[in-house]
Amino acid sequence: MRFVNSYQNKIKEIVEEKKLTYFIDTMGCQMNENDSLKYKGILESMGFKESTVQKANLILFNTCCVRENAENTLFGRLGFLKHRKLKEDDVYIVVVGCMTQQKHILDKIKTSYKFVDIVLGTGSMRVFPEKLYNVLFSNKKEIEYIENDNEIEEDVPIIYDDKYKASVSIIYGCNNFCSYCIVPYVRGRERSRKPEDIINDITKLAKEGYKEIMLLGQNVNSYGNDFKEKYTFTDLLKDIEKIDGIEVIRFMSPHPKDFKYDLIELIKNSKKIARQIHLPLQSGSTRILKEMNRKYSKEDYLNIANKLKMADPEISLSTDIIVGFPGETEEDFKETLDVVKKVGFDQIYMFIYSKREGTRAARMEDKVTNEEKVERLERLKKLYEENLPLLNKKMIGKTYKVLVEGKSKTNENLYTGRTSQNKVVIFEADDSLIGKMVDIKIDSEHLWYLKGTIENR
Ligand code: SAH
Ligand code: SF4
Ligand code: F3S
Repeated sequence: MRFVNSYQNKIKEIVEEKKLTYFIDTMGCQMNENDSLKYKGILESMGFKESTVQKANLILFNTCCVRENAENTLFGRLGFLKHRKLKEDDVYIVVVGCMTQQKHILDKIKTSYKFVDIVLGTGSMRVFPEKLYNVLFSNKKEIEYIENDNEIEEDVPIIYDDKYKASVSIIYGCNNFCSYCIVPYVRGRERSRKPEDIINDITKLAKEGYKEIMLLGQNVNSYGNDFKEKYTFTDLLKDIEKIDGIEVIRFMSPHPKDFKYDLIELIKNSKKIARQIHLPLQSGSTRILKEMNRKYSKEDYLNIANKLKMADPEISLSTDIIVGFPGETEEDFKETLDVVKKVGFDQIYMFIYSKREGTRAARMEDKVTNEEKVERLERLKKLYEENLPLLNKKMIGKTYKVLVEGKSKTNENLYTGRTSQNKVVIFEADDSLIGKMVDIKIDSEHLWYLKGTIENR
């Protein structure tokens, strides 16, 4: 469905007259970050200017519910805004995103946070202007609400924060129902965007000077499973590779169960697909993986990791791991540590298991104590941080292509960028090189970043 804003001019008139401003507070994953850039695009197309949470007229919360603590954060922040809403004119509060798809949250907003003006579920952006119009132009007091209706929304204006890197969603929703995870309940079933819509967006971005693209989806390699004609994630990658100007292609997240040989071959032979693959492990224990409904074993995972390293030893791997899943024993956890040792991840996003009502795991008996969970997280972190310098050291003396992103935040005289492996590199350069690809020889490693020198200047 195409996004058409028939309220744009009417809203713009009042926004410009009153000089209304906005602030977006984003929680959660890159998918939410990407949605927030679209809300920014919609708001700015209607004349809103960006401001701070203390001053903005319209405050939009884009929420996440993948783990428990987010709820307290949202209600804390809403409570804080109540004073502004009571004291000041022209304060509008909008809550969107995953959390609003949960009935108990919606009920709580309706009963205890009645001052919220608009609540939108996931994938309901196209009704935002209409709901905003109702709030701005009428005295209606009930909350304007709409839930996810599983539509794909195209042509939504988007404003990126970065000039050279852009994220593009290729598939929405999730069909996997991993037993711990709330996402399939709040984001709906898998819907792939049409290849031509994606290609058009990326071609436009390339013409505007964007060099690096991050393709987004809860499970990017199930892209196209919902098409009548066969067109898969690998087909899409091949077509994106042909776009002139795009030099680096990244994607997240692929699911190990769908990581097939053709994708490994494509990555091996590609000049543009980044030498970094995010491959969520979740657990190294085959028994726990089964309980998690992940549909691969420890050996399957190690097999893919080995094949990727064999395809190109320069490929670095990053992952997500959950510790303390219900019933996880010390032996299970040691299996996870074993995979971490064997693979050597360059980045690990570590999470303590968080019970999500409505999921299958929420009904499992949770024998792991909180102390054990925290202790396992610490051990995992320690192992990871011990390994990292060894991986970094392998890069010293080698030359990598780096997109110069800008000045380093900590040192005025230095510039920063990332290698294809997604490693931060700091080096001497000048402003004329910002946005260009340069060859950098790595000189030293500093745990979270590398230092290097530009070659052939
Ligand atoms: N679709 C992606 C992940 C989306 S959620 C994938 O399958 O890889 C991001 C990460 O949050 C997950 O990879 C998982 O590690 C973590 N996560 C999801 N549900 C969780 C829960 N209930 N408790 C703790 N971590 C969770
Ligand atoms: Fe959640 Fe699993 Fe879907 Fe990822 S693949 S979003 S972890 S259900
Ligand atoms: Fe959170 Fe929704 Fe992403 S639950 S992790 S913002 S898909």
